[in-house]
Amino acid sequence: MVTRRRMIGAALATGGGVLLLRATVRPAPADAAHTADAAHTADAHDAPGHDAPAHDASAHGTAADPGPDAGPALAPKFAVAMPLAPVLSPVSTDGGTDTYAVTMLRSFARVLPGHRTEVLTYNGAFPGPVIRARSGRPVVVRQTNLLDDPVSVHLHGAAVPADSDGGPMNLLDAGAQRTYRYPNDQPHANLWFHDHAHHAESEHVFRGLSGTYLLTDATESDLPLPAGRYDLPIALRDARFDAAARLVYRMDDPEGRATILANGRPWPKVEVAARKYRLRLLNSSNLRFFSLRLADGGPITWIGSDGGLLERPHTTDTVDLSPGERADVVIDFSRYPVGSSVVLTNSMPPGPAEHIGVVLRFDITRAAHDPSSVPERLRTLPALPAEVARERSVVLTVDETPGAAPRGMIDGKVYDPNRVDAAVAFGTSEIWTVSNGNKDTPHNFHLHLVQFRVLARNGQPPGPEEGGLKDTVRLLPGESVRLQAVFDSYRGRYPYHCHLLDHSAMGMMAQFEVG
Ligand code: C2O
Ligand code: CU
Repeated sequence: MVTRRRMIGAALATGGGVLLLRATVRPAPADAAHTADAAHTADAHDAPGHDAPAHDASAHGTAADPGPDAGPALAPKFAVAMPLAPVLSPVSTDGGTDTYAVTMLRSFARVLPGHRTEVLTYNGAFPGPVIRARSGRPVVVRQTNLLDDPVSVHLHGAAVPADSDGGPMNLLDAGAQRTYRYPNDQPHANLWFHDHAHHAESEHVFRGLSGTYLLTDATESDLPLPAGRYDLPIALRDARFDAAARLVYRMDDPEGRATILANGRPWPKVEVAARKYRLRLLNSSNLRFFSLRLADGGPITWIGSDGGLLERPHTTDTVDLSPGERADVVIDFSRYPVGSSVVLTNSMPPGPAEHIGVVLRFDITRAAHDPSSVPERLRTLPALPAEVARERSVVLTVDETPGAAPRGMIDGKVYDPNRVDAAVAFGTSEIWTVSNGNKDTPHNFHLHLVQFRVLARNGQPPGPEEGGLKDTVRLLPGESVRLQAVFDSYRGRYPYHCHLLDHSAMGMMAQFEVG
């Protein structure tokens, strides 16, 4: 039942020139389709009777072509305010552990104005809630799966024991409950959690199963950075809708997704005071890369990335984020007059520039006192061990043999949960050279369990924004990244994969075992 057609992508402008992106498109497997019963309506803020919930029975890949993304037609730019995701409160703080109870359920979210959209949620929130944790203080999350499918909850970027890692085969069945234990035995980091059930993760995350997990420690919280209401977690992604505002998931559909969402709303406006803000940007898209800029080219100061703060701030005008990556930045809005606005733009295709080229708008609405500052020294990164036990090379490719279903591969092999692809000795350090073996398809690379360091990108030293701790790195066509990791936290089997989730769902994933 897998049919397939090719789409020639838009030109991808990069610093190195213009690349052509091609993507394959195929319907989702029928077994990944959801039924539209058992809807939970947790969107209490919606005016009752105002807009009918959109049931989602026909919006799956096996249905007829739903036409182009209706999001841009249904959602004017800058018409809605960007919400902040709710911060979860623990159900217990006994014994030095914060325990949370989370229920995965179908819900209706107000996404496009005047409509409600069926989504998959953690606790009814779209996007998922924020968990705030502190290094040295464990978190336990009791997850209850009220969805129709098995799921797996992965805490991206965290060092956790393998049985709490939420790997692709470590499933939590429909109706079941499971406790995930997060030791938080690592420095501060901007983490996130999302579904990882093999073959289903891409659709599950697309439909909403993603949330934020901010781990802090004294190194971070003692700094005079913008905090409290001036510290905004922002999850950016794209999406595709039909004319009834239903999410349309089609496997490997980068060009079909022309609606940009920030914290679950399309092209929102963000009211800010004329002072410094800290923005914790997460790219939670399945496939979309962002290259973000302020429309006036104004300065953006990188202070951190996936694994927390950089050693020193780095001021630039561009933030590149591939799926799964995080950027921790400070923008000083005091350079704009009260009453003015500045748009955050995206220059990374594919898609119509008038839609995907715009992300959100900051409206500078008031003056404010600003005691915050960005120190010249933010942290000291742990030294990399001089001793390297092993070097490996890893190649990511999509195989597009005509007539066959596209397969994602690492080192020429599709993911096999029963195969160990890399045996790593506990306590050692390794250098991996990871490359994109395709000429026209972007990938990226994520290792579970560790925060690594980028030693080189395409043979050159990495830019300052890649100089901190990383767990995900972008790999444009033909690119390669040399990285070093230390495997000294837990033993067991963990995946590594392309974080373009449509690709990992097609098998672009492998497994290492620390033993
Ligand atoms: Cu963000 Cu293996 O995942
Ligand atoms: Cu990929």
